[in-house]
Amino acid sequence: MSETRPSTGGHRPRLALHGAGRMGRQLAEASESAGFSLVGVIARHQPDWLTEDLYAASPEQLVVRPDVIIDFSLPGGAASVAQWCAGNGVPLVSGTTGLDETARAELDTASAKIPLLWAANFSIGLNACLVLAKRLRELVGTDAPARILDIHHAGKLDAPSGTALVLGEAIGGDVEYDSVREGDAIGEHHLVLELADEQIEIRHVANDRRLFALGALHAARWLCSRSPGRYTMLDCIDAATP
Ligand SMILES: NC(=O)c1ccc[n+]([C@@H]2O[C@H](COP(=O)([O-])OP(=O)(O)OC[C@H]3O[C@@H](n4cnc5c(N)ncnc54)[C@H](OP(=O)(O)O)[C@@H]3O)[C@@H](O)[C@H]2O)c1
Repeated sequence: MSETRPSTGGHRPRLALHGAGRMGRQLAEASESAGFSLVGVIARHQPDWLTEDLYAASPEQLVVRPDVIIDFSLPGGAASVAQWCAGNGVPLVSGTTGLDETARAELDTASAKIPLLWAANFSIGLNACLVLAKRLRELVGTDAPARILDIHHAGKLDAPSGTALVLGEAIGGDVEYDSVREGDAIGEHHLVLELADEQIEIRHVANDRRLFALGALHAARWLCSRSPGRYTMLDCIDAATP
């Protein structure tokens, strides 16, 4: 798709965050050094770390119109902010996982009006693993069953994780999922392919949540100058690859 939206020119793109939990906080902390001007953080409750001047209980309460919104909330939140963004012409990056069919349809509808990038995982390394998984299946054929294990902190609500599901789509064929929710694990994924007399494993471990925040900020900067449409993290990474 061509770049027909006006770019944000010389000014720092104005960013609003939707969701003020673990990821929202990481994004708020990294946004200014990533070249954004943070104009608001939306959540239903104001967390302790967020100052009154930045807090908004809903997108309607934002004092400054953002150039882009990054959403890391919960499925109902992703659907409602997508609706608001579509109605107000604001590009949306969303990393919220566990979306049901209604929420996914809401994101699709919104992408007819605004540039919208949803990704289950904003890590460049994990997205490279998706490409490897797809190629691996082409090479070994469809017979070999796959197992995907995801390990996350006890507070994570969805299982299998959104990343496990996109890994499963990438590898295709017969896939069995298993999830562990314990402690404060940030995110670990194992994809195991069972062949006749051998086993292949792709393993990805996220060591710091900052990784996802930096990936989402990179995606937001890229998305600001796109035409309306639905984009993936691979579109954004490909565009940056010489
Ligand atoms: N794509 C990736 O790379 C990636 C990486 C990590 C996490 N995630 C996903 O990102 C999401 C958030 O993760 P997290 O660890 O930050 O979760 P969290 O700590 O539970 O935070 C969720 C935040 O969203 C807010 N929220 C929930 N429903 C909302 C709604 N309807 N409207 C507005 N705000 C709402 C919550 O605050 P209130 O309840 O006060 O509204 C809270 O501030 C999860 O789906 C997680 O799986 C994705």
